[in-house]
Amino acid sequence: MRPDRNELIKLLSLQDPDELADLYKRAYEIKKQQVGTKVYFRGIIELSNICSKNCFYCGIRSGNADFKRYTISMQEALREAKWCYDQRYGSLVVQAGERTDAAWIDFITELITNIKELSDGKLGITLSLGELSEEVYARWFEAGAHRYLLRIETTNQDLYKTLHPADHSFETRRECLRSLRRAGYQVGTGVMIGLPGQTMADIADDILFFYDEDVDMLGMGPYIPHHNTPLKHLVEGFDPDNALQLGLKLIAACRIALKDINIATTTALQALHPDGREQGLLAGANVLMPNITNTEFRDGYQLYEGKPNLDENADETMDSLSQKISAIGESIGFDEWGDSVHFAKRMN
Ligand code: 5AD
Ligand code: SF4
Repeated sequence: MRPDRNELIKLLSLQDPDELADLYKRAYEIKKQQVGTKVYFRGIIELSNICSKNCFYCGIRSGNADFKRYTISMQEALREAKWCYDQRYGSLVVQAGERTDAAWIDFITELITNIKELSDGKLGITLSLGELSEEVYARWFEAGAHRYLLRIETTNQDLYKTLHPADHSFETRRECLRSLRRAGYQVGTGVMIGLPGQTMADIADDILFFYDEDVDMLGMGPYIPHHNTPLKHLVEGFDPDNALQLGLKLIAACRIALKDINIATTTALQALHPDGREQGLLAGANVLMPNITNTEFRDGYQLYEGKPNLDENADETMDSLSQKISAIGESIGFDEWGDSVHFAKRMN
């Protein structure tokens, strides 16, 4: 049943701590019933911070000349993939800024093929590489990728325009989501919450968009201002506690409204509170994407301020994570793809 807009606005507007606790509990019950309490890991390989887009909120946008651009080598990317495999992560995410040139498309195709080869076809591959043609999406799917994340960012088209240069288009992005579906992927999208000028009604409409597009996965997070962007005036006065609460409410509302999809608890939540990601799991998320990028490169991938774990290496991150997950009574889905239950049901 299509979620009720007013009901969503009501959930997203809750403030009272007891009512919020009830909201998270209700979402957690639905998660338990629909997808269980296993957390699926996807190691994120942050392949490159080169991006041809210039989104006004993002620290690695093309207009920011104030930091070093990198692309890791095939060898380094495969070393990270092998590490994921050895840790018994079921899947990984290949993420980078957007590039559409032929050399890049070939590089990604080869990388997907190589990852499949080194893991005997066992590592699941999610891509998060921006807007490309349906043909390119199909090529990467054939090479072995099977999930794709592309956030719509906001479904309020006026707000979309204030956050992006004129040549970035909401419609193109929505078309890309549809191309991905046709190419065979499990499709993930998401929005930022707490954007300047965004209302609870906007966010309720975002959730209705997820429902109408029948998405399989969500990765959403609070907007966190970055000093080197056109929105830097928002850095001062930013309230991390409020942003965290908004992010958790969004996860809970999505779990209640969309039931059996995969929902990620994102790094942005952890940037706001050391336990932010665990709180995300308790509010209804079931996928966690540990950063496995070598620390040598990691500080180059600063989409927003205060991205966590900059000085930890991947092994330390893994240990502290496992402990935190046992502490909240959940287990890790080792060696499993942890595909979207929603997708599986649609395919049946
Ligand atoms: N705060 C939070 N999330 C951000 N992203 C980009 N910039 C920010 C920011 N300042 C998110 C966008 C994008 C993803 C890669 O990172 O939603 O889709
Ligand atoms: Fe590029 Fe994504 Fe950042 Fe936009 S949000 S500038 S597309 S990395």
